[in-house]
Amino acid sequence: MDVKEVLDKYGNSPGRLLGAMLEYQRSKPQNYLTEEEIKAFAKETGLPVSRVYSLVTFYSLFSEVPRGKYIVQVCHDVPCHVNGSVNVVAELEKLLGIKMGETTDDGLFTLEYTSCIGCCEMAPAMQIGETVYGNLTPEKIASIIEELRRAGK
Ligand code: FES
Repeated sequence: MDVKEVLDKYGNSPGRLLGAMLEYQRSKPQNYLTEEEIKAFAKETGLPVSRVYSLVTFYSLFSEVPRGKYIVQVCHDVPCHVNGSVNVVAELEKLLGIKMGETTDDGLFTLEYTSCIGCCEMAPAMQIGETVYGNLTPEKIASIIEELRRAGK
């Protein structure tokens, strides 16, 4: 998939740029956008490069550096924090052998924080790709990571 293809699919309008950029980024094995690709999105949509850059830097879903196949995003807004997101992070760091912000050596997992993902009633929660996981316990986290390890290899 190239930039033009994804914009053709989304209708090449500035209002649909976010969705197009996210799908494009997800189609890449390392889940990030290069400077050339950001410029290509600006050129194809007719927007200033600075505007497209501002989207990439504003939304935590985007990255300008290579990341893992699975982006594990732990919510750290207040409801999740008071319900133990610190413990979720600790469990993930232990299981994956990395610290927050890092990527595993096998390129499978990147650990990141995110703001509220809209399921506060299931706090603490995390999101991996488009899937949201809530009511997280150490056992549940281990099971999710194990399942993705098997699927990702
Ligand atoms: S605060 Fe974590 S999902 Fe809303």
